[in-house]
Amino acid sequence: MKFFVDTADVAEIRELADTGLLDGVTTNPSLIAKSGRDFKEVIAEICALVAGPVSAEVAARDTNGMLAEAAVLRAIASNVAIKVPLTWDGLKACRALSREGAMVNVTLCFSANQALLAAKAGASFISPFIGRLDDIGEDGMALIGDIRTIYDNYGDLKTEILAASIRSDDHVRRSALMGADVATVPPGVLRALARHPLTDRGLDAFLADWKKTGQTIT
Ligand code: E4P
Repeated sequence: MKFFVDTADVAEIRELADTGLLDGVTTNPSLIAKSGRDFKEVIAEICALVAGPVSAEVAARDTNGMLAEAAVLRAIASNVAIKVPLTWDGLKACRALSREGAMVNVTLCFSANQALLAAKAGASFISPFIGRLDDIGEDGMALIGDIRTIYDNYGDLKTEILAASIRSDDHVRRSALMGADVATVPPGVLRALARHPLTDRGLDAFLADWKKTGQTIT
């Protein structure tokens, strides 16, 4: 499973990229607004830090506008993935961009039928939003399972399932169990994946015993 980090905070991305465990980055207009920085500058900096796909989202609502914005964003770096919304205009833009060889991440997916359309439109990634479905009392994880089954039913659908709107380590665990190809995870949740109280307790005990031996490893 690939891990993307879901943030536009360059300092956070730099730190996480240093682990060697980061496969890509997703941003969205809300995350760019939160950064308080210039969109194109931030995307350029992120692309220089991470070799994998960096999702940059268009702001236009119509296909032609999306394509014009996509051209600007693609010129920033070769690892930019154009993020388009799951609307008919977004699907048309996805079709055109994927035919040109661009990476496309179709975002704001809330149903299996939407995911099927995105795959037919040649999306590189489909982003089902787990947390936002859970927020309205639906089962975000079930959507990941449905999309996995549908994509596996048709060998010609090559779109990767990018589990998005992840709020907890349990969302990551269950996405992996469901066979999502990628999880895009907020930095805090990504860091939490390595933590377990028994790991800390066990390490303390081992190191206390090691100290008693009086030995060093040289
Ligand atoms: C994914 O690409 C989105 O940026 C993100 O996962 C949305 O998450 P949220 O629902 O927590 O805002």
